[in-house]
Amino acid sequence: MIKFTIITLFQEALKPYLESSMMYKAAHKGLVEFNFVDLREFGLGPHKSVDDTPYGGGDGMLLRCEPVFNAIESVKKKDSKAKVILPTPVGDIWNQDMARKFANGQAESFSRSIFSDVENTERPSPLGEGARERSEKNDSSCHYVILCPHYEGYDERILSIVDYKVSLGKYVLTGGELPALIIIDSVVRLIPGVLGGENSAAIESFSDGDNLEYPQYTKPYDFRGMTVPDVLLSGNHGEIAKWRKQHSGKAK
Ligand code: ADE
Repeated sequence: MIKFTIITLFQEALKPYLESSMMYKAAHKGLVEFNFVDLREFGLGPHKSVDDTPYGGGDGMLLRCEPVFNAIESVKKKDSKAKVILPTPVGDIWNQDMARKFANGQAESFSRSIFSDVENTERPSPLGEGARERSEKNDSSCHYVILCPHYEGYDERILSIVDYKVSLGKYVLTGGELPALIIIDSVVRLIPGVLGGENSAAIESFSDGDNLEYPQYTKPYDFRGMTVPDVLLSGNHGEIAKWRKQHSGKAK
């Protein structure tokens, strides 16, 4: 069971997707659990404010530390092993290998290498000594807390309570909700039992993470003059496997 807790101001943007299709089925089968924390509840003052203007001047508003720390700590109080993911355009670019490691509960195993600037051993562990020890023993946790920043950014000190900074690509979105959905979807589909046919695992088996799926065809054989490659009808499993490997798309 993998648990996701999403800290956001906009649950309504996430729920329709997580309550549909494969995400719904995975949750219904008990393979994954989605929880929400309303960041607004941790807001300050009568207006439950979560952001403020940047020191030094500049446009826009930044997420403040207090609401974010209090929200994350409320989750950690119930599950000290939970790991915090921050979607940010300056994070490590998300890929299939990372998704697989998160699905296998092995994210710890690469947090110091792939996420090297996040797992900075110089900074005090925001998770406390117990967490540092667990991390050294490679004791994995499968509770991921995704913090969705909004507005123009976040106070840099928030990084001290974050385990993984993840970017979905070199472009800037208005918030962390879409990245959160993409991270969740790409992890959940890899949990055994989520996709119907376990053939899907076979598709992944020759993939090193940079390979994408091969072209696939179903009936009819001839659609408006476009026919299915004959090798796929040959019944020769060796040749079919070779063709599929040759035609698996390479990620750019
Ligand atoms: N937040 C805003 N832009 C983002 C991106 N490209 N990836 C992850 N989080 C983001």
